Amino acid sequence: MSDDEMPREINWDAAYAAGVTPWDKGAPAPPVVEYLQRAKVTGQVLVPGCGRGHDARAIAMAGATGVLGLDISERAIAAAPKADDPGGLRFEVGNFLELEERHRGSFDWVFEHTCLSGLHPSLRAAYAESVAAALKPGGKYLAIFFLTPWDEGEQPEPPPYAISTDEIATMFDGRLQTEEEWWPTRHFSGREGRELMRVMVN
Ligand SMILES: C[S@@+](CC[C@H](N)C(=O)[O-])C[C@H]1O[C@@H](n2cnc3c(N)ncnc32)[C@H](O)[C@@H]1O
Repeated sequence: MSDDEMPREINWDAAYAAGVTPWDKGAPAPPVVEYLQRAKVTGQVLVPGCGRGHDARAIAMAGATGVLGLDISERAIAAAPKADDPGGLRFEVGNFLELEERHRGSFDWVFEHTCLSGLHPSLRAAYAESVAAALKPGGKYLAIFFLTPWDEGEQPEPPPYAISTDEIATMFDGRLQTEEEWWPTRHFSGREGRELMRVMVN
């Protein structure tokens, strides 16, 4: 296995402890805010790799019955806002790639934003398996795919890892089907044209 193929161990908790969290903009992702203004995300929602929980909170405030923010970093979860809870919002420390039995088949929606791009490509099949396992039959995967975090030749050491639409198709082949796909018009600065949104059905 070459170095590129080796899963790099990322110490996410250490990044939060050191306050080195450039992905955290202190606000929900603009593409999901845009989506929540035109569509309903209802029932039970899982947000894997939720970090400090900005997206989970926005989804709960938009009216989902229950939103679970899951993150492998204890420090991220400890920093997730607990005050002014809109109701139905909870956070847990856990590994999305080793989904607990009680979470299997439990969610109407799984929401993706910068969890997948933080994972080494060798972990993508396990990630897709967890998405499908978490969803109820007919449940939906709402994803902001961070396709091209960097321009070609400018990539510093990942993560984030770029992903192509072909790679996404391979990951979810035989699992989820695309219902809707679009280019969001609102972004964090620097992500314009780099994010693709999809709703996929289990
Ligand atoms: C790039 S950060 C994005 C965090 C958040 N989505 C945001 O935009 O602020 C990736 C997050 O995924 C979490 N993470 C990494 N591997 C994970 C795993 N296997 N299960 C759950 N969370 C994981 C990290 O701790 C980190 O908070």
